[in-house]
Amino acid sequence: MTASGPVASFNPEFESLTCFDCGAHHEIGRLHSVCESCGLPLQVNMRLKPDTDPASVIDRSIYSLWRYSKVLPVLPEAAITLTEGWTPLVQADGQTWVKDEARNPTGSFKARGMSMGVSAAVALGARRLVAPSAGNAAGALAAYGAAAGVEVLVAMPEDTPRQFVEECRQYGAQVELVPGTIADSGRWLAEHRSPDDFDLSTLKEPFRVEGKKTMGYELWEQFDGDLPDVIVYPTGGGTGLVGMWKAFDEMEAMGWIGATRPRLVSVQSDGCAPVVEGFRRNNRRTEPWPDARTTAYGLRVPNPIAGFICLRALRETGGTAIAVPESDIEKAAAALSAATGVDACPEAGAAWAAHETLRDRGWIGPEERTLVFNTGTGLKYR
Ligand SMILES: Cc1ncc(COP(=O)(O)O)c(C=O)c1O
Repeated sequence: MTASGPVASFNPEFESLTCFDCGAHHEIGRLHSVCESCGLPLQVNMRLKPDTDPASVIDRSIYSLWRYSKVLPVLPEAAITLTEGWTPLVQADGQTWVKDEARNPTGSFKARGMSMGVSAAVALGARRLVAPSAGNAAGALAAYGAAAGVEVLVAMPEDTPRQFVEECRQYGAQVELVPGTIADSGRWLAEHRSPDDFDLSTLKEPFRVEGKKTMGYELWEQFDGDLPDVIVYPTGGGTGLVGMWKAFDEMEAMGWIGATRPRLVSVQSDGCAPVVEGFRRNNRRTEPWPDARTTAYGLRVPNPIAGFICLRALRETGGTAIAVPESDIEKAAAALSAATGVDACPEAGAAWAAHETLRDRGWIGPEERTLVFNTGTGLKYR
């Protein structure tokens, strides 16, 4: 018997959908947001076999994240794709590399998650897609919605740079500008969306993380079947961090790596640092950050729903969390661009500054291979 309906769009190795926190199971063939029991994020579980030959998983003839479709929940035939992922590493100095996510469609790593999230949502019957965003996720959702032929409504803070707003309108999306932070935009959407709209907010659906996890698989290939010692990641909602952490567990389950992990570092601005504060206090969950302010808009997420997963990922990998002074971010982004030729966004500026601080403190040793993420283009902020 062959599968039909939405399930036909999914990889037969997509085994189950469970809650990240309480483990409750959810039916695969339906649109879900968060866990129906506890309201926390859901995770996709792929069926993985020990001793899997990487050559049987990776299709090296495909130069996008779809080269890993054997470990992705959506089948390539059902993909809404603009050729996202497979971004280059740029060497910054002897032991530091930058992964340049500005090369993605719409100029940021959000393309990875939205390709997967929109593909799954459309396969499951979503007609209109909505999301609050700091800017880059909105642009990516607008583009993938256009590619899928579905309507998009995004809500963004009213001080989001105009380029992000114009970009969304260019793709035909409806844009609402809301006073406050992304949290206020989320509240506006919750009040104004219609019941049939599907919400693709960060970690309020399980598939964007699956797109983001491909960054972890790419690093493994780009480091010749190994991983860097440290990964420095500018953290807002935490999808990329959670995605890579999940990818490393999957690789271990397939026998590609051992128990050792890259030490994950969450970087935030001192104007909005709920993950850093939760880590410092050794809390299990993050607390809402009052009066969040930063011009690294992707980091202005005062109350990330997946804060507890980020904290788990940092602790389990022996990582850390660090807040960069807001006043250092712009010049650090310029320093990163000047040192490498990479078009750095402010969020990557924060990551670059944090990386330098951690090297100066000796937390990153001189011989340790370090990967810093440039999560998006700087052009949209200027
Ligand atoms: C350029 C940039 N960097 C980093 C982030 C934070 O990403 P995440 O939600 O995966 O933590 C964002 C999110 O908007 C972003 O746009």
